[in-house]
Amino acid sequence: MSLKISVVGTGYLGVTHAACMAELGFEVIGVDVDPAKIKALSAGKLPFHEPGLDRLLEKHVESGRLRFTTDYDEVASWADVHFIGVGTPQRADGHGADMRFVDASVTELATRIRGKALIVGKSTVPVGTARRLESIIGTHAHPDAQISLAWNPEFLREGFAVKDTMSPDRLVIGCTDAHSEETLRVIYAQALEANTPLIVTDFETAELVKVAANAFLATKISFINSFAEVTETIGGDITVLADALGYDARIGRKFLNAGVGFGGGCLPKDIRALQARTSELGLTHTMGFLAEVDEINLRRRERVVRLAQTMLKDQLAGAQIAVLGVTFKPDSDDVRDSPALDIAVRLFNAGAEVSVYDPKGNTNAAARFPRLNYAPDLAAAVQNADLVLLLTEWDEFKTLLPADLEPLVGARKIIDGRNVLNRSRWEAAGWELVGMGQHY
Ligand code: UGA
Repeated sequence: MSLKISVVGTGYLGVTHAACMAELGFEVIGVDVDPAKIKALSAGKLPFHEPGLDRLLEKHVESGRLRFTTDYDEVASWADVHFIGVGTPQRADGHGADMRFVDASVTELATRIRGKALIVGKSTVPVGTARRLESIIGTHAHPDAQISLAWNPEFLREGFAVKDTMSPDRLVIGCTDAHSEETLRVIYAQALEANTPLIVTDFETAELVKVAANAFLATKISFINSFAEVTETIGGDITVLADALGYDARIGRKFLNAGVGFGGGCLPKDIRALQARTSELGLTHTMGFLAEVDEINLRRRERVVRLAQTMLKDQLAGAQIAVLGVTFKPDSDDVRDSPALDIAVRLFNAGAEVSVYDPKGNTNAAARFPRLNYAPDLAAAVQNADLVLLLTEWDEFKTLLPADLEPLVGARKIIDGRNVLNRSRWEAAGWELVGMGQHY
């Protein structure tokens, strides 16, 4: 008999996981407390932008292999394996992750499950959560239920969510019993047949792998951005430096792109949550370096605003500024903790007229900051601009040529916040182009 799967939480992680499980041939149900989301998903409509996921969702809603509900009773009685993919946002007081949704979904399931079932945590959580959830399950489970728990962190990137789920770099399973491991081996059989490394370990290690990976990636970005501060002061080429470092296989070239810094719903919140959790464990200084990583990252935004001010001869107020890109990275409509959007807002607050264009992010950005001007296309955004800022490296912007903007802009000035434009070409066309890490 084939396993029946539920996925709790239909955000980014949940919908991707649900659709990919259906693609693997399982019958899947997604559950969420938000009826509007469930309605859209049941109609095969993806409420956010993710390449390839829209087609997968549509395909499997149509095939009947994937459905959605708000009804926990149905889910608990129907599925054998329940993946928890709800959010763990930063707490309102800024200290640590808000665990309400994880705790609530596990409690909802535990009270309703009868017979044998496996609950698998996928959400990013503070270390120690799985042990705590085991005791929640122990308190709430019905006497007729035999519920096991496993931890199986998710490493997908926005923009590559389907690929990362179908062909992960590695699979990590934290568990305390052989049955959980066997069940997850069945679910991930295709990836395992393709020789995906599998790490079976304890709960704590499984939880830590996820936060350690994100902390490392964030550190790598801030590391190169700290050198960008040096080259901005004394001169040097940050991209050449990164290339030269990257040839050392121990270092590697990936995540060494200097720019406006990292953002999104994961890296910033995860490094803060890790500091909060280790402090709670009495390790006040252990993750202290992550406070520096965070500060270096946030300084990038100030740097861009200062640069804009200098390039505009201290005349930010009233200047016409075009911002290209507001999402935290390309191929996403996500503006959570987006450096690009933050910079646009800072410029607006300094009195500039800010015109924003993003291929997918305008709607989400406008919902957060309705007072910026949102342009329907690139041409409208750069019209009469005194300064253009390229802040998210969408293909549409990376391939820009000076001649594309020249008939439209008011002045030939551009900040390349992602170091993706060919400086000599723009300078040859009479532009003042300043990149990240560039002495100015
Ligand atoms: C990140 C991790 O890369 C995933 O492995 C992880 O599963 C995910 O968080 C998560 O915890 O759910 P994601 O948030 O989609 O994925 O974004 P990344 O591709 O990691 O980029 C994060 C930020 O770093 C972006 O703002 C990007 O522009 C920036 N970045 C990246 C740089 O500034 N420089 C670089 O060299 C690379």
